[in-house]
Amino acid sequence: MKFFIDTANLDDIAEAQALGVLDGVTTNPSLMAKEGITGEENIINHYKKICDLVEGDVSAEVISTDFDGMVKEGEALAALNPQIVVKLPMIADGVKACKYFSSKGIKTNVTLVFSVGQALLAAKAGATYVSPFLGRLDDISTDGLHLIEEIRHVYDNYGFETQILSASVRNTMHVINCAKIGSDVMTGPLSSITGLLKHPLTDSGLAKFLADYEKGNN
Ligand code: E4P
Repeated sequence: MKFFIDTANLDDIAEAQALGVLDGVTTNPSLMAKEGITGEENIINHYKKICDLVEGDVSAEVISTDFDGMVKEGEALAALNPQIVVKLPMIADGVKACKYFSSKGIKTNVTLVFSVGQALLAAKAGATYVSPFLGRLDDISTDGLHLIEEIRHVYDNYGFETQILSASVRNTMHVINCAKIGSDVMTGPLSSITGLLKHPLTDSGLAKFLADYEKGNN
């Protein structure tokens, strides 16, 4: 399973990259605003900085909600760097734009997906990635993981190549369960990745190894 980090924070991206397990980055307008990145020029420059930090795919979300606007924005974003994946909302014009970009060989990520039907449409439109929002479903007492499982089943039935990018991942258990279900990618905050490191037996075991080494060498 690929690990993407879901942030526009350059320090967090660099830390995940340094760990050696990062496969890409996802962003959205809220994450950009959280870092104080506003205005078209600053946002474009920020995408360039993110692409310089990582080797994998970087999702850049369009703001337009009409087909022509999405195409114009998406083409400009894709021209920034081959790593850029045009992130499109799951609305009718987003599906049309997805078909347009996929037929041109431009990578896409269809976002704000909350149902199997929406995921099926994204795959039919040739999306590179589909982003079901696991955490936001859990937030409203709906089983987000079950949605990922159903999408996996449907995609496997027909051999769709669209990769399931489990989004809105919030914690380590989300990451582990996504891996168990067969999600192709997960995107979450840095803590959902670094949290996987933690185990008290690792810490106590390492402390004992080091103490025993010291004893033997003194
Ligand atoms: C997906 O690409 C979104 O950016 C993101 O995962 C949403 O996460 P949230 O529900 O924690 O805001």
